[in-house]
Amino acid sequence: MSEQKLLEGKVALITGAGRGVGREIALLMAKRGAKVLINDLGGSAQGEDSDQSPAAEVVRDIKAMGGEAAANYDSVSSFKAAEGMVEQAQDELGGLDIVVNNAGILRDRIFHKMSEEDWDLVVDVHLKGSFNVARHAATVFRKQESGRMIHMTSTSGLIGNFGQASYGAAKLGIVALSKCIALDMARYNVTSNCIGPFAWSRLVGTIPVNSEADRVRVERMKTMTPDKIAPPVVALASDQAQHINGQVICVRSNEIFLMGQSRPLRGMQTAEGWTPETVLNHAFPALESTMYPLERSPEIFNWDPV
Ligand SMILES: NC(=O)c1ccc[n+]([C@@H]2O[C@H](COP(=O)([O-])OP(=O)(O)OC[C@H]3O[C@@H](n4cnc5c(N)ncnc54)[C@H](O)[C@@H]3O)[C@@H](O)[C@H]2O)c1
Repeated sequence: MSEQKLLEGKVALITGAGRGVGREIALLMAKRGAKVLINDLGGSAQGEDSDQSPAAEVVRDIKAMGGEAAANYDSVSSFKAAEGMVEQAQDELGGLDIVVNNAGILRDRIFHKMSEEDWDLVVDVHLKGSFNVARHAATVFRKQESGRMIHMTSTSGLIGNFGQASYGAAKLGIVALSKCIALDMARYNVTSNCIGPFAWSRLVGTIPVNSEADRVRVERMKTMTPDKIAPPVVALASDQAQHINGQVICVRSNEIFLMGQSRPLRGMQTAEGWTPETVLNHAFPALESTMYPLERSPEIFNWDPV
């Protein structure tokens, strides 16, 4: 297998590719032969304003190394704009084979202070945005009977974190979206997988540092560079990964983890049916030893990255 040709002849649409993780995915996909549509609204980490320069600069970088790329400056949270991205990839780059749902913002707030606007903006960009792009790509992928979808999730959703109810809900919603797309579209040779990255980026730089534990976490994050996320994404996008579908994979520096999916852990049953009292006195005590403690992502990934 020639490394250089892994994505030769493919066209990829990568959202939020003007910075951070998305930019690195775009650069590696271009190096491996893909033509890339660089979508980025270019707003602030909190989802305000817009700026064309991040996407335009990545297009310039790809062209400078001999690759082919085009820019799109729209927001993924618009269903109509997402349709435009899919059309632009086909019109300007000649097709669409790969979609990477990567655009993201953060509005961390402790839950009792989270506003409706904070919730709506975060869910609109991550969950609705991923649906928007995936849905329009699905029409193309179904017709051509092939396609790759890769969506960015987060351990803030898979495990949990302080102040991230909106973000965690959106990111775990993306896992369900991805799995159900995988189930619906496997018959058309379309795969849909999630990546949970750990990388120092502008987005992570907005996480409030309120304690020594937060400070240690941020210092550790600074050692994890976004370029480390790109190789597994490129691998998933390749023809060789046809059999990898409906999975969640976390990537942290040189570590790659296959994440678990939900299964029943332990069951209790009674022929008489449950009352609230028998649930309290019988079922809960029996299940308790198997229940999960209230852990956060940094407590599960509590060792230094390799
Ligand atoms: N960095 C991490 O450790 C980490 C951890 C877990 C998940 N993630 C996820 O990885 C993805 C990339 O994050 P990053 O850390 O590189 O952040 P980043 O802020 O560096 O990049 C995100 C990009 O998305 C763009 N964007 C925001 N809203 C948009 C919209 N509506 N339409 C189009 N583009 C938009 C931004 O302009 C920005 O360039 C996000 O989905 C994030 O939730 C990152």
